[in-house]
Parts: sequence; C-alpha cells; structure tokens
Amino acid sequence: MRTHWDRHAGTWDAHLPSSDLFAELLDEVLLRAEPNPEAVAADLGAGSGFLTIPLLERSGRVHAVDNSDQMLARLAARVDGDPRLQVNRCSFLDFEPGEPLDIVVSNYALHHLRGRDKDLLCSRTFAQLGPGGRFVVSDIMVPLTLRPGQSGALRSKVWRMTKKGLPGLWRITKNAVRWIRGTGEYPVGPDAWTALLKSAGFTGVGHTAIGRETGVVWGTKPTQPAA
Ligand SMILES: C[S@@+](CC[C@H](N)C(=O)[O-])C[C@H]1O[C@@H](n2cnc3c(N)ncnc32)[C@H](O)[C@@H]1O
Repeated sequence: MRTHWDRHAGTWDAHLPSSDLFAELLDEVLLRAEPNPEAVAADLGAGSGFLTIPLLERSGRVHAVDNSDQMLARLAARVDGDPRLQVNRCSFLDFEPGEPLDIVVSNYALHHLRGRDKDLLCSRTFAQLGPGGRFVVSDIMVPLTLRPGQSGALRSKVWRMTKKGLPGLWRITKNAVRWIRGTGEYPVGPDAWTALLKSAGFTGVGHTAIGRETGVVWGTKPTQPAA
C-alpha cells in the first residue's frame, strides 16, 4: 500500500538540510547511541537514511526499518549495495531483527504511533536489545492534545498556522482530518517519553530539548535483569 511518505519522500529530503536543527539532533543521537564497529543497530522509520547512513559509517551492521517503498528506494540509492545494511520494509511493530541489537535509534518517526503503540514499541525494543543496549528517540516532543492543562502547545501551533492565512488554515484542516482518521501525528512530551522508557525497564533515562518543539530521549537496558 502506498503510504503518506511515499508521496512526500522528496519533500522531506529537501526539508532536512533546511535547518541546523537536524544536524543538532543527529549529533545528540550519535552521542547517546555510542556506535562502534562491533555494534548491530536499528533505525526505526529510517526514511532515506538521515540517521542510518551516519550510523552505518560507525557501526558493524544496521537494520533500516520503514514501511515506505519510496523512502527505502532513496536509502538504497545512497548506500550502493553495502551488505552491512539490512532493509526491513515493515511497520515498526512488525520488525523482527532476528538477532540481539546493541543500538536502536529513531528520528522524527515515532510520533506516528498512537499512545498505546508507543508503549508496545518501547517494550519490544527493550526485548530486542541485548544487555547494555541503547535506545535513543529523537522526535517532535510537544504533546498535541486537547486535554485540560496540556493543550497549550496545540493551541499555540494552531495560532501560528492561522497567522499564515489560507495556507495555514488548509494545513490545519488537513491535519485535523488525518488526526480523526487515525493516520496523523501523535507526539508526546519528554515527560511521557521518559515514563515510557522507564516503564519498559530502561535505566539511565535522560532527555535534552533541542529547538522549540523537538528533543532527544535515551535509555539503556541494564546489564543485570531487575531483581
Ligand atoms: C519524517 S520521516 C523521517 C525519516 C528519517 N528518520 C529522517 O530523519 O529523515 C518519517 C519516516 O517514518 C516512516 N514511518 C511512518 N510510520 C511508520 C510505521 N508505522 N512503520 C514504519 N515506518 C513508518 C515513514 O515512511 C518515513 O520514512
């Protein structure tokens, strides 16, 4: 099935170099993931390889996970058949690495998962990592919710778009329709991510904000099982 990102692969790739934000996110992810030539890594929602390629340069092998043929075709064109890259054309929650992982990273992708699926993904990732494995999530980290007391980010985003006139109103309408149909974006804040990682069993969980809306959260699978 053709996905949203099959239609927007080119737009996203053009957007990446448009801001220093992405370079900062990349640096932070690499710092927290601690890649090394022995490591087996996975990139969830790999796209055309924004994280995958730097990770591949620093790791033994990398699993790229994505459900968009167009995105993965772009990635394949960039790696020139490197046998150390394993492409997994599947949804995040269907990914089976078939071997213990040392590193799992993701950039700008996991906000596509609804709340309960984020929970499930954190538990699956914990199970897929070997002892000492690192999970690093870089993403939009403002909660888009109408819940009382937490709706500030959504209201200010809608206000900023409204000020752009008709194009802004068109984006609000499109996003609202996608959100209602369940194909939209469900970002949560750093506190929620931190709680998700801790509840999956990760330790050393930390967060850093980068830019107005984004951040990186990381955690480590303990080397000893919890008592
Ligand atoms: C905004 S792009 C980010 C791509 C890449 N991580 C980057 O930083 O350039 C989001 C990516 O997540 C993928 N994606 C979205 N939902 C997915 C899902 N449920 N399973 C697998 N991939 C998914 C999309 O196909 C797309 O390539």
